[in-house]
Amino acid sequence: MPDDAVLSADTQTDSPLVKQAAWLSKYQYGLRLSEQGTVISVGDGIAWINGLPSACMDEVVRLEDGSSALVFHLAHDRLGAILLHQTGQLTAGTQVFLTGKRLSIGVGDALLGRVIDPLGLPLDAVGHIAYSGNRSLDVRSPPIIARDFVAQPLYTGNKIIDSMIPIGKGQRQLFIGDNGSGKSTLAIDTVINQRDKDVYCVYVLIGQKRSTVVSTIETLRRAGALAYTVVVVAEATAMPGLKYLAPFAGCTVAEAWMAAGRDTLIVYDDLSTHARSYRELSLLLRRPPGREAYPGDIFYLHSRLLERSTRLSAKRGGGSMTALPIIETEQGEIAAYIPTNLISITDGQIYFDRQLFARGFLPAIDVTRSVSRIGGNAQHATIKKEAGRMKLDYLQFLELEVFTRFGSRLEASMEARIKRGQILREMLKQDLLAPLTIEFQMAWLVAYNEGLFDHLELEQVASQLAQLQEQVENASLNLDEGRDQWKMLINAWLKQG
Ligand SMILES: Nc1ncnc2c1ncn2[C@@H]1O[C@H](COP(=O)(O)OP(=O)(O)OP(=O)(O)O)[C@@H](O)[C@H]1O
Ligand SMILES: [Mg+2]
Repeated sequence: MPDDAVLSADTQTDSPLVKQAAWLSKYQYGLRLSEQGTVISVGDGIAWINGLPSACMDEVVRLEDGSSALVFHLAHDRLGAILLHQTGQLTAGTQVFLTGKRLSIGVGDALLGRVIDPLGLPLDAVGHIAYSGNRSLDVRSPPIIARDFVAQPLYTGNKIIDSMIPIGKGQRQLFIGDNGSGKSTLAIDTVINQRDKDVYCVYVLIGQKRSTVVSTIETLRRAGALAYTVVVVAEATAMPGLKYLAPFAGCTVAEAWMAAGRDTLIVYDDLSTHARSYRELSLLLRRPPGREAYPGDIFYLHSRLLERSTRLSAKRGGGSMTALPIIETEQGEIAAYIPTNLISITDGQIYFDRQLFARGFLPAIDVTRSVSRIGGNAQHATIKKEAGRMKLDYLQFLELEVFTRFGSRLEASMEARIKRGQILREMLKQDLLAPLTIEFQMAWLVAYNEGLFDHLELEQVASQLAQLQEQVENASLNLDEGRDQWKMLINAWLKQG
């Protein structure tokens, strides 16, 4: 088609044809330099490449066969890249081209209810995702000046946490414990508890078995939590590069919402696997191993990730990202390298104890070893007051109980205190998938502090609590109601039963 015809047909519009014609008319022939690399070897999710002298760290490279990789290691005569996508045709000798781009991921509300991989591609069978924008995977965390204090509570729906180890919006709270101690269950419960609370959630599953992935997604779906959640998955069989990128991808998605002024919650399940993937990549790329064979920058990697969780100032829209990183310990060893790193990076930890689990105290949270360094500021004043009294009682009881193990005879007053402590322990037990409203938390705290449960046998505690919960849910009492009002109503309810 002659240029004139094209131009006359579309003069007023901004059509691609017009643009193309304009570009062609200005086209100049000349010498252009481009670089072409070659794969030297490939294996274990890594490609060694030579011949790309201007490649940058973290740049995406495109391979001739359709694979893609991320530059991860620059050596004198070659570069190491981690594969993001690998076709069956990739071998030594495949040509490599620079793209000049860094890794980014699609973000936006269209992701809600979806399951994606760390590159943002859908893993569910629902089809294309209409992203509302793109965001770089590795950005700097917000500067101090853009941040605000943690001042609003984020309710987990768990009795122990919401009362004694409270979490605030924008806080980073570590879930730490041996395998099978209930860490993921509590994280899932927390996500489920955000229903109707206007908090968008991101659940990142790193290196988990497919059965765990499926059951996590199913649990969220059944509880109606997928409507406000996106699940980012790099399962155990995924390439190490994807496992390494998964938390950053999830963080980027949540960060986009935070920047838009929303409250978000992100769970990293779990960062031990992430650290191991990073160690694997680093060793394969022949970086010098440090403590426990982890590369020296693992602390930097995790702190960079977790520093991106914060609460933004009102000027920046007031959004927040609360992070719940999960770490697995071995034989309760919290002094190992990765756990100590994360304990120091986060604003507190919730410690899950295998022995408590074995004794049937579920969720198996060890209150004595758990802390929340900033969440107390965000706690509602009345809950804080009630919980303070209860916590003191509980800690004293745990100390006293040690004496009874020796079978020593106790004074009557001591026995009464121990009985009261045992009742409290029964009250603190909670089933999985049963997050509680904050009003009910208030009710049981007042009931305990007023001694309204003291006369019960241990077996009766659970049923009394269930009855109280039913009554609280039917009544429309709120936290700002006076304490006397609460006390009176709870007394009346318990007498009815
Ligand atoms: N509050 C609870 N009540 C009853 N069962 C529970 C409770 N919390 C956890 N469980 C059970 O404990 C088991 C282990 O829990 P979970 O998978 O959450 O542990 P985990 O610490 O995430 O384990 P892993 O290290 O393998 O990921 C599950 O079968 C779960 O159903
Ligand atoms: Mg788990």
